[in-house]
Amino acid sequence: MKKVTKAVFPVAGMGSRFLPATKASPKEMMPIVDKPLIQYAVEEAVASGITDMVFITGRNKRAIEDHFDKAYEVESELAMRGKNELLAVIQNIIPKHVNCIYIRQTEPLGLGHAVLCAQPVVQDEPFAVILADELLDAEPPAIAQMAAIFEREQASVLGVQSVPRAQTGSYGIVKLAHEGGLDRVVGIVEKPSPKDAPSTLAVIGRYILTPRIFHHLANINPGAGGEIQLTDGIARLMLEERIFAHTIEGTRYDCGSKFGYLQATVGFGVKHPEAGEDFRAWLKAFGSAS
Ligand code: UTP
Repeated sequence: MKKVTKAVFPVAGMGSRFLPATKASPKEMMPIVDKPLIQYAVEEAVASGITDMVFITGRNKRAIEDHFDKAYEVESELAMRGKNELLAVIQNIIPKHVNCIYIRQTEPLGLGHAVLCAQPVVQDEPFAVILADELLDAEPPAIAQMAAIFEREQASVLGVQSVPRAQTGSYGIVKLAHEGGLDRVVGIVEKPSPKDAPSTLAVIGRYILTPRIFHHLANINPGAGGEIQLTDGIARLMLEERIFAHTIEGTRYDCGSKFGYLQATVGFGVKHPEAGEDFRAWLKAFGSAS
């Protein structure tokens, strides 16, 4: 029986919806309150029992590598000034037992291509894919919810949530059939128009996949938007293996869009241990004033 111990974080996209913020640094380094999106994603993976983090990076990759690396200068400066709490914060970004591996996607040929770049590290193991710009506030964490199904079924699992029909053109949309208390994926299509969408259940940036996906990603042609689409690879995998969908229990923030990013800032801001109380009071006053 296999367990999921590796997670792939594709972080090589253009992030064009957040220009100019993403001109010189990846969108996954944008902070929600005081942590970058990629740190929330890695924390979700660690809390789900994953020990190998594989980042698929592109241009501007340095900021992510530096974030998870030791920062000697900042650490000695903080130690010198006796700022021990902050020192612990930056020293404990990633637990000691966790490995970070970086692979370069030399051209942004699509999410499917980015995932294929992880094959030399993942090899013949099942693995998670986490899109850090989809921030999920969930307990248990989204990947842990899905890993429980993977471990029972030894089959791929897609994390889904319902979206308004008018928005199906922004997502991979699944068609499901009930099977033994689970939802089996019997169709998946990338960015269908609302009238063609087989349902309103969207894949929301969380996947657990068997390594057979690599065979399909290596053999498909560019799809929607001229990119190698992960969805197209999954559609082929579905013809060979069982794939299940799991509706993630939790709050989802689409931080790839400005609206979702602002919602996340408020959602995490009001809960923040240090700033939350003042922020809640300010929000209330702001709400009644405007
Ligand atoms: P998006 O479709 O959100 O694209 O990619 P993007 O470039 O990040 O953002 P916009 O649309 O231009 O604003 C979905 C995920 O796939 C990764 C991105 O980093 C993001 O996490 N990705 C996409 C890659 O790693 N490589 C690619 O070639 C394409």
